[in-house]
Formats: sequence, C-alpha cells, structure tokens
Amino acid sequence: MKIGGNAMSKCPFHALFNERGAMQFFRKKHQQEKENTTSRSPTTEHVATYYRQLASSDQKQQVAFVKLTEEDVQRLTSIRPLFAKHVERIVNAFYDQVGQMPHLRRIIDNHSTIDRLKQTLRAYLMDMVSGEIGEQYIIRRKVIGNVHNRIGLFPEWYLGAYTIIQNKQKNAFLPMLESRGFLRD
Ligand code: HEM
Repeated sequence: MKIGGNAMSKCPFHALFNERGAMQFFRKKHQQEKENTTSRSPTTEHVATYYRQLASSDQKQQVAFVKLTEEDVQRLTSIRPLFAKHVERIVNAFYDQVGQMPHLRRIIDNHSTIDRLKQTLRAYLMDMVSGEIGEQYIIRRKVIGNVHNRIGLFPEWYLGAYTIIQNKQKNAFLPMLESRGFLRD
C-alpha cells in the first residue's frame, strides 16, 4: 500500500494516515475503554479478515520473518481481558523508568506530559490485543514511529523503550502464558 499522494486523499480512512489522525485514534480508544464501550470480543472471522490484510500487505515478508500466524493473533485476542487488567501497571512502570533519564524527561516536557502519554500508550498497547491487526494497524504504527522521529527519539532509544515494555509484559504474563501452553519459538 502506498502512503501519500492522491490515492490517499481519496481513501475513506485518510484521516488515520497522518499524525493527528493516529493520535486521535488512540485518544478515542482510551476514552472508549474507560467508558467500556469496546469490550465486545472480536470473532474468529473478524480476526481472520484483518490477518488476511496483513498477510497480503507490503509487510508480508516481515510477518513471515517473525512467524506471526493468524493463530498467534487469535491467541493475543483471547488474552485481551487479562491484558486490560495489567496494562495500567505496565504503562506506569514504563514511564517510571523513562522518567529517570533526564534527556528523555526533557523531550516529554517539551512536547507533552507523562499523564497524557500514559493514556495513549495504554490504548496503543490494547490495540495489540484488539484482533484488528491489519493494514491500518501497520499505518498507525508507522505514523507513531514518525512522531518519535520528529521529536528526536531515534531508534536506539525507541527500540530500548520497546524492550522495556516487552520485559514488563513478560513479567506480568509469563506464568499465565506458560500454564496455557502459549510459549513457542
Ligand atoms: C516503544 C515505546 C513507545 C511507544 C509505543 C510510544 C507511543 C506513543 C504514542 C501512541 C504517541 C502518540 C500519542 C500522544 O501524543 O499522546 C506518542 C507520542 C509521544 N511520545 Fe511516545 N512512545 C514510546 C516511547 C517513548 C519514549 C521513550 C519517549 C521519551 C521521550 C516518548 C515520548 C513521546 C512524546 C513526547 C510524544 C508526544 C509528541 C507530540 O505530541 O508532539 N515516547 N508515543
């Protein structure tokens, strides 16, 4: 899929292809979750539809590289209620760690606030277990990656930040994932 140019302005989802659209998406999601209006579980077919988009997208080789299967996305979706219980703690622990680095703290203070970022990070993480991992999911991720590029948070820090989130998630979920036999290479 090409992002940019005339094709994009004709697309009904064009609002998601820019920073404002993506940020609004996460802020709206956060609000909906607070009001509990998105708690309905997506069906297997719903997840499959999104996965088909992913498997035929420009990222299909990366999807194959990390061996992300439709079953993985189904399993991710099935832990959504559990994820929702822990996400607050993961986000708080993440920003506690980020806040300890003076230059990261400065970037945040120059552009936003920790409280505001906590809300959208929560929605961003919940998006991973939404079952809606398709074309627009990729675009949202790319746009947010670009936001960090714009504010000077380059991959050496962004990747580290991902590792921190991953570790916090592992600590929260490992025992349950092991007991359900969800772990594999
Ligand atoms: C993998 C880790 C990260 C994820 C998933 C993530 C996620 C997000 C998301 C979804 C937004 C857009 C929504 C919003 O502005 O409220 C955002 C913006 C932002 N993030 Fe991150 N973030 C990560 C790491 C960091 C780190 C380590 C910093 C520390 C400097 C940071 C600083 C910011 C700032 C300052 C903005 C607001 C930019 C602006 O409004 O101009 N992020 N992040």
